Amino acid sequence: MLSIIKKIKFYLMKKLDGNLKKNIAVFISGKGSNLKSIVRYSSKKKIIYKVKVIISNKPNAQGLLFAKKQKIKNYCINFTESKRLGNRVLSILKKNDIKLVCLAGFMKILPAYFIKNYKGKIINIHPSLLPKYKGLNTHTRAIKNNEEFSGCTVHYVNNLLDSGKIIIQKKTRITKKDTANSLKQKILKIEHKIYPRIINKILFNL
Ligand code: GRF
Repeated sequence: MLSIIKKIKFYLMKKLDGNLKKNIAVFISGKGSNLKSIVRYSSKKKIIYKVKVIISNKPNAQGLLFAKKQKIKNYCINFTESKRLGNRVLSILKKNDIKLVCLAGFMKILPAYFIKNYKGKIINIHPSLLPKYKGLNTHTRAIKNNEEFSGCTVHYVNNLLDSGKIIIQKKTRITKKDTANSLKQKILKIEHKIYPRIINKILFNL
């Protein structure tokens, strides 16, 4: 009995260690600090996903260099305004058996047909406590409005900007000393913690 349990345990560990982890894609436009934290976290043994594909809409996105160093399949395709290119990205995702698309600093709005194709399987991280401060310059606006707290939100992506169903939020206090930049750094630290972990949770059900 014990040896059977051991065998099953061994098989499960191997399954998660090797190629049988669930594949995700990460879409970026810039620095890619969230991408890094996701890739690092996914390399842990018990984590059930791996980053199989990285898509950037910008050729000079720093995150692409990281993708190359890590030898993760990466593509630079500015696809959101072209249905032909959008379909190309969709076919890359399907070919690579992508179960979840994670936007991490992806600065374009996804077209409706694209979202429909991956319904309920596209998530985003946003640096504010949604529904407050959708869009850009969230930290400056939160400080200007004398908010006591700010934070970040992971949410499903729908056709409206930063408006899909909220999955998780974490808040932090805005102090008198905070500038837009210090607040950004504080919130990024939280993002790097929660995003990789919530991705793992979501994937249990996909
Ligand atoms: C993060 O603050 C994220 O919440 C927002 O864009 C920023 C991306 O940063 N959507 P990075 O490229 O992951 O460093």
